[in-house]
Amino acid sequence: MSQTVFPENFLWGGATAANQLEGAYLADGKGLSVADAMPGGKIRFEVLGSPEFDWTIDEEKYVYPNHKGISYYEHFKEDIALFAEMGFKCYRFSIAWSRIFPQGDELEPNEAGLKFYDQVIDECLKYGIEPVITISHYEMPLNLAKKYGGWKNRELIAFYERYAKVVLTRFHRKVKYWMTFNEINSALHFPALSQGMVLSNGAGDFKNIAQAWHNQFVASSLAVKIGHELDPDLKIGCMIIYATTYSLDANPVNQAATMEQNQIFNYYCADVQVRGEYPGYTNRFLNSRGVKFEDLDITKEDLDLLKAYPVDYVGFSYYMSSAVTVTGDESDTVAGNLLGGVRNPFLKASEWGWQIDPVGLRIALNELYNRYQKPVFVVENGLGAVDEITAEGQIIDDYRIDYLRAHIEQMAKAIEDGVDLMGYTPWGCIDLVSASTGEMSKRYGFIYVDLDDKIEGSGKRMKKKSFDWYKQVIATNGADLA
Ligand code: BG6
Repeated sequence: MSQTVFPENFLWGGATAANQLEGAYLADGKGLSVADAMPGGKIRFEVLGSPEFDWTIDEEKYVYPNHKGISYYEHFKEDIALFAEMGFKCYRFSIAWSRIFPQGDELEPNEAGLKFYDQVIDECLKYGIEPVITISHYEMPLNLAKKYGGWKNRELIAFYERYAKVVLTRFHRKVKYWMTFNEINSALHFPALSQGMVLSNGAGDFKNIAQAWHNQFVASSLAVKIGHELDPDLKIGCMIIYATTYSLDANPVNQAATMEQNQIFNYYCADVQVRGEYPGYTNRFLNSRGVKFEDLDITKEDLDLLKAYPVDYVGFSYYMSSAVTVTGDESDTVAGNLLGGVRNPFLKASEWGWQIDPVGLRIALNELYNRYQKPVFVVENGLGAVDEITAEGQIIDDYRIDYLRAHIEQMAKAIEDGVDLMGYTPWGCIDLVSASTGEMSKRYGFIYVDLDDKIEGSGKRMKKKSFDWYKQVIATNGADLA
């Protein structure tokens, strides 16, 4: 067996989000979240993006797969036991804000919601699995979107602060790793998920998006402050979508456009959260969208807080890269994880059209680490694919193994490049509801869950071929990828 370059304490694991697997959407006092108002199917973004959409839930017209998820709320013990069987060192999951503060603006938390996460955390610790918690992953209480207009409203800072204080205080003795907001930069393309804003409550005006980001930056710093006051050893990170971005050719004009896209999409939020100040290109970026920095509601106290409480590490999701041209055929586009791009002729795409690029992960790791000089953590990566069950009852997902292997090989190279990489938590380690399409049939897991897009089926869990493969990867600390 070859030698590993992965450090001894490398955090191998998997990642999920509450709204995509827990189900039990009204159990034990939970309130509705924005995810509960998102219909299932490829029409999801079309519905959310229509000017009429006002967060109304219409069960006559649509299916809402997140309401049931994979019933993890009832099955978490059995599911975590399977993660333990794979040898997980950590498990990234999120807390549903609406289980803790059902409406978001209450003064007192819902004890039943906290008790559920007590149990989830204890179940992880029982197996020596380190919990890694995302405080807010696309699931703010629906009331905050409807009544307050989402994150553009400054009042949300205090609501988030109260929520973060409750969960950090309750769990900090058992949970060392945290992230403040999932994919905070995704709002550039789709503010419904992370900012609770759609066209009918202000998403059409970029000033609202920029203001919402600012409010989230302040909230993120407050969470870091609370966490570090409880325990200076807590590690509290940001979490961004990262798509390594290439110019389609060597034309300097396209290179410059690529640089701008990188700054706007990949770096803007992380620059503020990691360095604690707005980057130099802020005015150019905001002006290009018709917004002036001085028109935003930003106080001196806010800026002091950002500076005083930056994040400890850089968490990011990586599924695909993106290509840019302003001189070539801009109409030959491909789909992507919220952000698409023009077709890169050197890459193949997944069944959902995301262009697969393992080498881009090595580049991403180097770019992020060298820009920030803080530890980096790949907290999402994976292949969404349709899985078939053979006549013998097996799921031979070699395509998924190939995808993950190629990405792990590039992580190893990045470590050899000198990158301080904390861990790897592939997305949807157990099949769950897709965020962008609300489908179950877009599967990422090592564990198959027998449910269809309407969440009909037995719900039975089955190990895929990738289950044993990943178990071996972890057991050998990344030495045996065969
Ligand atoms: C990330 C999100 O964008 O990608 C997850 O943080 C999401 O919530 C994942 O599920 C994969 O995207 P999708 O749309 O295939 O579920």
